[in-house]
Amino acid sequence: MTSADPLPHPYFRPAARARAARIFPPQLRALIEGAAPPLLLDVRSERERAAARLPADRHIPLPELPRRLVELPRDRPIVAYDHHGSDAARAAELLRDRGFPLAASLEGGIDEYATQADPEIGRYSDPGPADGLFLAQLPRPATGCLAYLVGDRETRTAAIVDPGHEIEPYLARLADGGWRLRAIVETHTHADHLAGHAGLHLRTGAPIYVSRRSPARYPHEPLEEGQSIELGGSAAIEVLETPGHTRDHLTLRCGSAIFTGDTLLIGSCGRTDLGDGSPERLYESLEEKLLRLPDETEVYPAHYGARHALVDRWVSTIGFERATNEALRQPDRAAFLRYMTEGWPPKPADFESIVAANLAE
Ligand SMILES: [Fe+2]
Repeated sequence: MTSADPLPHPYFRPAARARAARIFPPQLRALIEGAAPPLLLDVRSERERAAARLPADRHIPLPELPRRLVELPRDRPIVAYDHHGSDAARAAELLRDRGFPLAASLEGGIDEYATQADPEIGRYSDPGPADGLFLAQLPRPATGCLAYLVGDRETRTAAIVDPGHEIEPYLARLADGGWRLRAIVETHTHADHLAGHAGLHLRTGAPIYVSRRSPARYPHEPLEEGQSIELGGSAAIEVLETPGHTRDHLTLRCGSAIFTGDTLLIGSCGRTDLGDGSPERLYESLEEKLLRLPDETEVYPAHYGARHALVDRWVSTIGFERATNEALRQPDRAAFLRYMTEGWPPKPADFESIVAANLAE
């Protein structure tokens, strides 16, 4: 907070005074669906708002709030929200101070709301001011899969990573943002869900990129270690070969973010026994590639949620995973190999036919 900031900082107020209420995502969802929904107030910048927002809300960026109070009702509950929750809490404090007794803030912001209450909202990375990169998570609640739209804000050139077979939401997202699809990229041959590369290619003409090791029978551009896909401007996707979950697995690096597919999930690693995977190769990929990246590297995996026995967070970092991930916390290589080979649930009955469909012409 700079001295030019017009808002009083909560730390400078007497500690004993009551704070504005905080509302948790499931509570807010119930209120929204109830008879008297609160006014939702987005206090983020226009740019953050473009990435994801709650429906039927009002938008007043936090710096403008003090002079635009007249636009808000004093007799209706107001729930301020932002990306993580901290600016919204400041907004709610300000509203209470200025005579809005029913003001509250959304705890955890829109990210937690998307995680806990409404996956359709989608999560997104906090767009850094100097970063021309745009990144949005495109969740598929039915399968617990995560696809990604990543692109260059200036040139509006984008790639979609790991699309699911229902492609209409992606096409809508591309059209909404004025994106030109430059590339469709699969991190690996999926065994748990039908992929959407073929349909997306058919509708957009964008080329499909997969590992040079992929047995794909559809037309594709093969990728290998060190290669990159330019997205125009500042954005490019760099390729790291990380076999293990499957033989053809790639990790894709884009700025400070990596799309880890099923090589590194949040809290675990993807199983290696569906197809041509290898726990030994996975160990090497982790030790020699991913765990050598800086701790602050953001990890964007291909799955989330209880369906995959993973904690319900969608974004992590290399440092956090190094400290907490069950697979990475195994004391040595032998223990890691045991972890990856023992005690997994039975193989899904249909995985071979899914793999065959995902490789078809
Ligand atoms: Fe997979």
